[in-house]
Amino acid sequence: MCGIVGYIGKSKATPFLVEGLKALEYRGYDSAGVAVYDQTIELVKTKGRLKDLESCLDGSQLNGTMGIGHTRWATHGEPSYCNAHPHMNTRTDIAIVHNGIIENYLELKEELEAKGYQFVSETDTETVVHLIEETLKEHENFFTAVLTAAKRLKGSYGLGVISHKNPDQIIAIRKDSPLVIGLGEHENFLASDIPAILKYTRNVYFLEDGEAAILTKDSVKIYDLDEKELKKEVFTVTWDIDAAEKSGYDHFMMKEIFEQPKVIKDTLNGRLSQDSEEVILDQIKIDKDVLEKINKIYIVACGTAYYAGMIGKELIEKIARVPVVAEVASEFRYKDPILDENTLMIVVSQSGETADTLAALRMAKQAGARVMAIVNVVGSTISREAHDILYTSAGPEIAVASTKAYSSQLIAMYLLSIRMGRILGKIDDAEFTELKTAILKLPEQVQNILDRSQEIKALADKHLGMKNIFYIGRGLDYATSLEGALKIKEVAYLHAESYQAGELKHGPIALIEKGSVLMGLLGQESLMEKTISNIKEVKARGADVIAIALEGNTMAKHVADDVFMVPKTHWMLTTLLINIPQQLFAYYISCGLGHDVDKPRNLAKSVTVE
Ligand code: G6P
Repeated sequence: MCGIVGYIGKSKATPFLVEGLKALEYRGYDSAGVAVYDQTIELVKTKGRLKDLESCLDGSQLNGTMGIGHTRWATHGEPSYCNAHPHMNTRTDIAIVHNGIIENYLELKEELEAKGYQFVSETDTETVVHLIEETLKEHENFFTAVLTAAKRLKGSYGLGVISHKNPDQIIAIRKDSPLVIGLGEHENFLASDIPAILKYTRNVYFLEDGEAAILTKDSVKIYDLDEKELKKEVFTVTWDIDAAEKSGYDHFMMKEIFEQPKVIKDTLNGRLSQDSEEVILDQIKIDKDVLEKINKIYIVACGTAYYAGMIGKELIEKIARVPVVAEVASEFRYKDPILDENTLMIVVSQSGETADTLAALRMAKQAGARVMAIVNVVGSTISREAHDILYTSAGPEIAVASTKAYSSQLIAMYLLSIRMGRILGKIDDAEFTELKTAILKLPEQVQNILDRSQEIKALADKHLGMKNIFYIGRGLDYATSLEGALKIKEVAYLHAESYQAGELKHGPIALIEKGSVLMGLLGQESLMEKTISNIKEVKARGADVIAIALEGNTMAKHVADDVFMVPKTHWMLTTLLINIPQQLFAYYISCGLGHDVDKPRNLAKSVTVE
């Protein structure tokens, strides 16, 4: 995943490189570095976070106006000085930063070592810099040498390359790993993601796979791998930079949890309002003819987005009566799924860059299936490659653990399943009005929960000493419980498991003992009594029970030690409300334990490697 930045222009490069990397720190933060050209290529890098790099840069004289930088999320080789990027060749006249994985690096490394190249790191990336040096023996032109070397690479890469002999250019090249080029006045920028350059420019080019660019102070030229110049359209970013800052909250995660009423309104905006007679989804071109031919739907995603997909499966099957399989992308891509022109694939992704999800999308397209993407980042690779798009309007999500993006994905699933139901004539006007009214109430209901966040804090304080926690639910509550348990694992580093409430007695209940903590979700009224019975079974074995229930539930307090009530709503929508206290609970536990809640250990926001 890793973050990449590059600068060439009229000012010193280092301030931009550091600022840009800060904006990308969510992509990885186990080491960081910059290489700046000033007569020679000066390299400063370190294990640790950006503040450690800033300390190393303190007092250093990096005055050059061209440079590249990197913040790393380790794949090959532990976090260390040697493994940190940028990587340089032995004669120190070429420096590169890389995001992705070079799959044939061992083979290339052996070949290069046999030719006398000395490797100092355990990374796959270092192979590339030596390979470029070797290729320069045959191709004097630096750009040609980089392209020729790149053609030998298998795997994924976004690369930024500079060379002592070409101090007036940065070369960028991409395959399966995002790169964006920001266009300025007598200065140009390179980054793996938009937030890095947003303070400097809103005009960008997105590099596509198999494209390379030469950035100079006054120009940006894009080529294909055969050096044919390409014409590209400038894309103007419309998001607000303020949206990427903390706005007075202690952490991005808290800010993002509290933004949810607005995010829900934004995702509904222009699609569903009080006056709507239909859901309007502009960028989804599926009409009755297309939908009637679809005999199977796959929803494919990773992490939190996958849980939104699980909810989507239940909703679409219930409403549209089309069979839906929800599958984790890293599994899906290595199976032999039945995909053809009558298949619809829906991919769900906040970043729009997740490698496994993208691979699944490409697989489906290759087989002739129609692909729809529910994506947050406008202009991301997934959004560009899907046939139909439903953007979630969550704005930039900075905290690694997803909160507001998840809620916006649920809203997208509600809109999509209702739209499908309407097209297929499965939802009549009365049901539509009932759902519409309930959905439009959600922002106010989420706010009601947020206003009571101190109740959740008290619950978190009470359970700060827990060593593990079990989540249970039935139906939509089960998918919600998976997300609840994931949040605890991600930010509190506690062992958390989720089970279908009815499955407990088939094994997991053996784990319950005095002091175990159970989170019982009671959002599905039709299944509530069944889940209550399961909670009782756990309570009887000494567990301390927290229940999240719908207002008016009179039974929960008889089986749970603590109950948090959320407002009542349509059965399809309870899952969104039930999840909000789960997010707050994980946040407060993490903070109470003193963890870095926005940047949990071992995780990265955007997972652009397999
Ligand atoms: C990472 C993030 C998760 C996210 C998952 C999928 O693991 O830490 O929060 O759910 O990737 O990301 P996507 O951008 O595709 O939604």
